[in-house]
Parts: sequence; C-alpha cells; structure tokens
Amino acid sequence: MLGFYVLLITDVVCIAALIWIWAAIIRLFLDKHYRECPPYVPSFGMEKKIIISRVKEILKKSTRSLTVLDPGCGSGSLIVKLAKEFPEHKFIGVEWGKMAYGIAKIRTSGLKNTEILCCDMFNYDFGNADVIVCFLMDPLMEKFGEKVKKDHKKPQIIFSNSFKIPNLKLSEEITTGRFLMFKNVYVYRVD
Ligand SMILES: C[S@@+](CC[C@H](N)C(=O)[O-])C[C@H]1O[C@@H](n2cnc3c(N)ncnc32)[C@H](O)[C@@H]1O
Repeated sequence: MLGFYVLLITDVVCIAALIWIWAAIIRLFLDKHYRECPPYVPSFGMEKKIIISRVKEILKKSTRSLTVLDPGCGSGSLIVKLAKEFPEHKFIGVEWGKMAYGIAKIRTSGLKNTEILCCDMFNYDFGNADVIVCFLMDPLMEKFGEKVKKDHKKPQIIFSNSFKIPNLKLSEEITTGRFLMFKNVYVYRVD
C-alpha cells in the first residue's frame, strides 16, 4: 500500500513538473517580453562578493535609512544577507517567477525591513530606491536603463552583475575573472 502511494505521489509530481516545463516553453514562444528576460541564476563568485561588500560600505556610512532594490531578485541571493545585517535600512526584491519568489519570501519571513513582491519589474517604480543591485541579461539591459531613467527622482547608485547598461553613463568597471559570460561589476550613478 505504501509503495502505491509513493508511486502515485511521484507520478503527480512528475506530471506537474512536465506541465510547468511545457507552460514555460510555450510562453517562451508566445511572449516576446518573457523571451527577453533572464532566467533564474543566482549571483555567485567574485561579482556577488564585490556587490555585497560595496553596498555594505554605502549602508554603513549612511546617516539615514536607505532603500536597496533588487529587480529580478530570484531567491534573494543579493539582498537577504544584507537585510539581516542592516535592520535600519530597507530592502525590496521584485521577482516574477513564483518559485524563486516563494523561496525569497520564506528566507525573509522574519525580517521587518524587507519586502518581496511578485510582479514584473517593469510595472514597479524604481524611483524610491537609493541603491539598485541587479543580475539580468544583455537583451534586457537597454530597456532596464530606460526604466531607471524614467523612474529616477533622486540620486541612485546601480551595481550590475556581469552586464553593462548601454544607455547609462558608466562610472566604474570592477574587473573580475572570467567565467563564461559572467564577469565584472558595472557601477552607475544617476543624479
Ligand atoms: C539571473 S537571476 C538573478 C537573481 C538575483 N538578483 C541574484 O543576483 O541572485 C534574474 C531573475 O530575474 C527574474 N526576472 C526576469 N525578468 C523579470 C521581470 N521582468 N520581472 C521580474 N523578475 C524578472 C528572473 O525570474 C530571475 O529570477
């Protein structure tokens, strides 16, 4: 009897996974916006370390509460650690993938200074952020730059993992090793 239930649950999980994969494939074909957007790959390695340590410096120095935004936050790889260490600052993650959003939500469930939203980043106003951290993908970077320009109301500093934002003026390029296409951190300041 136990064997039957194990088999039944395995079947249900496999069928659900197949439906999910096929829905994603069909959406890739039908939805250009979805096709342009990066998949879930968490930040890792030197680039992640550099971004976190640079944001830490800014947060430590600030005499007022700052807002750090991660558009496309995945499971929160860039902001969760910072949010735990800096309860006096605010952290916002925006993620449209339900699974990654769910993980980020669980990881930040006890944190009063963190908000994780499940929506398209292009429908979210970036204007209140003081610091933006991101790890996106080339086809999206120009549109991302336009979004920053459109929403911006106050000085902001942006750290982009591995991908340049072509329509913003680069203020610093931090060179790291090379791992496939993932390398360097690009820093932008908009005033
Ligand atoms: C490469 S991952 C980076 C995750 C996280 N920022 C990090 O550095 O670990 C990019 C994430 O952006 C999300 N994403 C892509 N396009 C998005 C959009 N238009 N709105 C919200 N999230 C999006 C993906 O689902 C994915 O989880």
